[in-house]
Amino acid sequence: MLKSLFKRNHASMPAALEDFSDGREPIIRLRDIKKTYQSVAGDFTVLKGIDADFYQGEFIGVIGKSGSGKSTLINMMTGIDRPSAGEVYVGKVPVHVLNEGEMSEWRGRNLGIVFQFFQLLPMLTLLENIMLPMDFCGLYTPRQRRERALMLLNLVDMDDHANKLPSAISGGQQQRVAIARALANDPPIIIADEPTGNLDSKTAESVFRMFEEMVTQGKTVVMVTHDSALARRVTRTLLIADGEIANEWVVKALPTLSHQEMVAATRRLKPHRFKPGETIIQQGQPGDLFYIITRGMVEIALKRPGGQDVVVNRMTAGQYFGEIELVENQRAIATVRAGNSPVEVVALERAAFLELLSTSESTRQAVEGIVTQRHGENVRAQADREG
Ligand SMILES: Nc1ncnc2c1ncn2[C@@H]1O[C@H](COP(=O)(O)OP(=O)(O)OP(=O)(O)O)[C@@H](O)[C@H]1O
Ligand SMILES: [Mg+2]
Repeated sequence: MLKSLFKRNHASMPAALEDFSDGREPIIRLRDIKKTYQSVAGDFTVLKGIDADFYQGEFIGVIGKSGSGKSTLINMMTGIDRPSAGEVYVGKVPVHVLNEGEMSEWRGRNLGIVFQFFQLLPMLTLLENIMLPMDFCGLYTPRQRRERALMLLNLVDMDDHANKLPSAISGGQQQRVAIARALANDPPIIIADEPTGNLDSKTAESVFRMFEEMVTQGKTVVMVTHDSALARRVTRTLLIADGEIANEWVVKALPTLSHQEMVAATRRLKPHRFKPGETIIQQGQPGDLFYIITRGMVEIALKRPGGQDVVVNRMTAGQYFGEIELVENQRAIATVRAGNSPVEVVALERAAFLELLSTSESTRQAVEGIVTQRHGENVRAQADREG
């Protein structure tokens, strides 16, 4: 879709982000971001202490109900708005303390921003719209700017329309041009607030593919979307409810919870780490926690009568265990231990877990379905061994 995009011109690489080390440092770091709006009716806190790290090459979908704070959060990353408290680092740049002049210079060089309503300047041709960010930041020579703008228009299949005004093309075409404009200065990061929100599904798909292609080329894309089908195709989702982020593993493991329940569960999660081979749950012991794997692999093992354990199952990130003991209030029916590498989990205590099941009927049914399935697997494993 984006043709053979982004042969990155290192000579023109924006200075501010040049010293990204090994890609393991987050490219965007949000630290305890709070945002409160003052109004005559009183203070209204939209973001309640957001922490998140994004890494180079990730495609992050920001999702949540209308009014949950998605645009507010995005605007903290672009510097369009400032947090009331907390820190935003993009690379090593503390965005929250830049003054207006520094901010627009930095933004022009490092971010490509795409909005729901395109926001092309109506008096400028498409070509001129794309040249504008390069003019503004003084990147490239005037001649290179024109060539580059044409190349970008070609990239989004709009080169035939270079000298038209935005009003002469369709909304979908305008969004393609807006994407070309976002790429003008070859920024490492693209931030888009509902870029497909105003497009029909076919055009939305083609625009989404452009973002996918940018990610393939190593760019980091943060995209707000209401489209749940598109949200399933990103590499990572950030779910916001009432100004708080839900743990992404809770979202994955318990998708039937409401957004509010996900956030409530997130507040009560505790992280744990296990060494390779370490026992997490011992067969026959009481179980007190519900675990969601966030990293590594666990083995589920059953005791052979008088003999060694036999591994009946393996589970990885996004899967959960420990639910049978809590749901059925009984001792562990199997041993769970870390596989060959360290395992990280987030865990909920019995009361918090049972509370979730009592408030979310669909989650209770989903968990009970898993319990039934696992009992069945264990019976079969037992039968295989004995038979
Ligand atoms: N400048 C402002 N002053 C006061 N309240 C604001 C301001 N901007 C946003 N809000 C409020 O903050 C809350 C979050 O708004 P935000 O635009 O971030 O939501 P959103 O998740 O992007 O919603 P949508 O999906 O509708 O775009 C809303 O209740 C909104 O009314
Ligand atoms: Mg919004």
